[in-house]
Amino acid sequence: MVKNYSIAIDGPSASGKSTVAKLVAKKLGFVYIDTGAMYRAFTYAVILNGLNPENEEEASSLVNKIDINFSDENKILLNGKDVSREIRDNLVANNVSFIASYKQIRLFLVDLQRKIASNKNVVMDGRDIGTYVLKDANLKIFQVASVEERSKRRYLENKEKGIDTTYDDCYKNITTRDYIDSHRAFCPLEPAKDSIEINTTEMTIDEVVDAILVEAKKKGIN
Ligand code: DC
Repeated sequence: MVKNYSIAIDGPSASGKSTVAKLVAKKLGFVYIDTGAMYRAFTYAVILNGLNPENEEEASSLVNKIDINFSDENKILLNGKDVSREIRDNLVANNVSFIASYKQIRLFLVDLQRKIASNKNVVMDGRDIGTYVLKDANLKIFQVASVEERSKRRYLENKEKGIDTTYDDCYKNITTRDYIDSHRAFCPLEPAKDSIEINTTEMTIDEVVDAILVEAKKKGIN
């Protein structure tokens, strides 16, 4: 039987997980799976359907009724339509933590995540990958950075994408999401016991990627 490898990268919002995870996946020839994009796509669907993201019952009514997947080019698809741009809007960013705190929605998306990851070598990033989604991942990274650095990164990233936000908007959004993500009852953001913490505040992207590749090599992943 061919062995599949999985690398889990967890950490708070804007700690640079997706940039790093994409590059690590590329270097290793693995598939990259952005689970945050899936929670965002669900949130976008809730808004599109005129449902209230703060109402668990209303939002959860879309479980099993919508299709969330990735295209061959790794674009996030909601019912077959590319929504990569829409899921980065402020309205989605400000509501996604509510959606991610609802158990039924998490179970629905975790199931999809495990299906997408089955029979593939993957790098998956999120909040609960090492603790829940892929508990047996070969390598678990917990990536952190100061809240100021993360707000700065998110602000610059939005600016580059033409999304209209201020540093203060990003700071507020990130601190609020940190709180909700780490205090929810089901699968809160926390490091897996067997994870390796990397503080990226003063590291370049390449340094973080190299550090992860060194850890991967130690675990025999190549
Ligand atoms: O990584 P991101 O900022 O795109 O994630 C969006 C939100 O989704 C974030 O507030 C936390 C939530 N999330 C989660 O709860 N579990 C995951 N595996 C991935 C994201």
